[in-house]
Amino acid sequence: MLVKDTFLVFTICAFSTLQAAPVHPTLECTSGLRVHLTVSSIANRSTLNQLELNWMGASPASGDWIGIFNSDPTVSGTANPLERLDLSPTDACEGFYVTNTMVESHVNSSSELGFVSKCLDYHIGYVSSGGQVLANSCLRLEPTWMADMVGLGDQIIKDIFIPGTHDSGAYSKYDPVLGDSLVLKYTVTQDEDLLAQLIRGVRYLDIRPAYYGPQRAENQTGFWINHGAFQIHRLEVVVAQVQQFLANTENEIVIFDAREFPYGFNSDAIHEKLIAYLQQEFSQYIIPRGSEGWSSRISDLRASGGGKLIISYDNYNMYNKYDWLWNRVEHKWGNVRTLEDLYSYLSEVSAPTNNAWSAMAELTPTAWDVITDELGGLRKMADSVNRNVTSWYQGSWGQTANVVAVDFYRGSDIVRTAIEWNKQKISPGQIKCANKWERNQHRLRRLFQFFQFKFF
Ligand SMILES: *[C@@H]1O[C@H](CO)[C@@H](O)[C@H](O)[C@H]1NC(C)=O
Ligand SMILES: *[C@@H]1O[C@H](CO)[C@@H](O)[C@H](O)[C@H]1NC(C)=O
Ligand SMILES: *[C@@H]1O[C@H](CO)[C@@H](O)[C@H](O)[C@H]1NC(C)=O
Ligand SMILES: *[C@@H]1O[C@H](CO)[C@@H](O)[C@H](O)[C@H]1NC(C)=O
Repeated sequence: MLVKDTFLVFTICAFSTLQAAPVHPTLECTSGLRVHLTVSSIANRSTLNQLELNWMGASPASGDWIGIFNSDPTVSGTANPLERLDLSPTDACEGFYVTNTMVESHVNSSSELGFVSKCLDYHIGYVSSGGQVLANSCLRLEPTWMADMVGLGDQIIKDIFIPGTHDSGAYSKYDPVLGDSLVLKYTVTQDEDLLAQLIRGVRYLDIRPAYYGPQRAENQTGFWINHGAFQIHRLEVVVAQVQQFLANTENEIVIFDAREFPYGFNSDAIHEKLIAYLQQEFSQYIIPRGSEGWSSRISDLRASGGGKLIISYDNYNMYNKYDWLWNRVEHKWGNVRTLEDLYSYLSEVSAPTNNAWSAMAELTPTAWDVITDELGGLRKMADSVNRNVTSWYQGSWGQTANVVAVDFYRGSDIVRTAIEWNKQKISPGQIKCANKWERNQHRLRRLFQFFQFKFF
């Protein structure tokens, strides 16, 4: 009897492992149908903010289609899609389609977006041949996702999934008349300012302060946000946006990670000057690092100091001197220029034990790439990886992710991916897209029931 049981278990395990082995990272997530909308990072004189529809985990049947709607199709029906894409059984379980719809901005300043979580103009629905909406979502504002998430308070800050942007302050609106100069092509990493990023759900800001002394022309001196050698915005502009977000929300926690200091920080005195400025501007919001630092619970952070803002600082002397500064977020940056290399780099990174860390999920051009413009600029490079990044972190990488930082984040679904994984971490089993181990367990249980019924 013992022998027989053991044999059975082995057979079942082998069978079930075979079945569930992921053929490819993007195909790992086969158990949950999911759709989402993204906004393309590609911009030229005729194209800007093109809406894209995406699906994952589908097994398309003939007659299935995906529609874009201007209201929730589960409420107002599927009769009047703005656009529709018909699927056929030969279509892959995962894919995307660039629509003809250009997403308009109705606001002159990001604060007009407001501080209430809601759907914006566009919805997406996966509709079966029978007219049933099998999955849906929308373009969303998420200014309150942390406060809204029941149970988040019990989680540890370094263990939750935090959506982030790479070089968050290197933002600029695309000018369709002038187009992108070579410099803009390789310095601009985001097309929305920090306030819009925060309102849409980003909570990790990668800040690169620079300092220009009095020898500069008057309009260039002081603290700036740079991308490498390029001055992008005055620091005070960016600080005001973060203040505005914090003043209008409760229980959201933002990470302001000052790092790299690409220009002018050649003495501790400059650091001291920046730190004094940040302390003065953010005094009512700053959460001191306390004794637990990145191992603190969210609820303890909310109850501590101003309860809203973590300022981390990439300079050890300063970190030692000021007990309210946090240790810098550890960047896992592959410095790679192809999708495949990004995949292999990120597949091998491991989380540090006691520190927050960020998967830098973007491509980096070499100096030669910039001179020759071979990769077509950061917009194109982001476009070539953002969908895959979404898919990787929807899959099992989401389990261990902390910060994931991307370029042109609206081309990914990183905010909703983070929200879904955090819900999963709070109450395992909720997410439709179960990880491999859970799927295996489920299969095993079913097989056991089957065999027991049949043979015993
Ligand atoms: C603009 O970008 C779109 C999307 O990539 C492309 O189809 C189109 O040909 C481009 N137009 C111009 C004028 O470059
Ligand atoms: C934005 O600015 C334009 C032009 O100044 C104005 O006509 C429009 O009403 C403004 N929109 C909002 C939402 O304030
Ligand atoms: C500073 O002013 C000069 C002259 O008006 C102008 O050409 C330059 O673009 C300005 N620089 C910045 C960073 O605003
Ligand atoms: C990226 O996504 C495309 C489309 O889903 C897929 O064909 C490709 O294999 C993916 N590459 C990686 C490295 O994940």
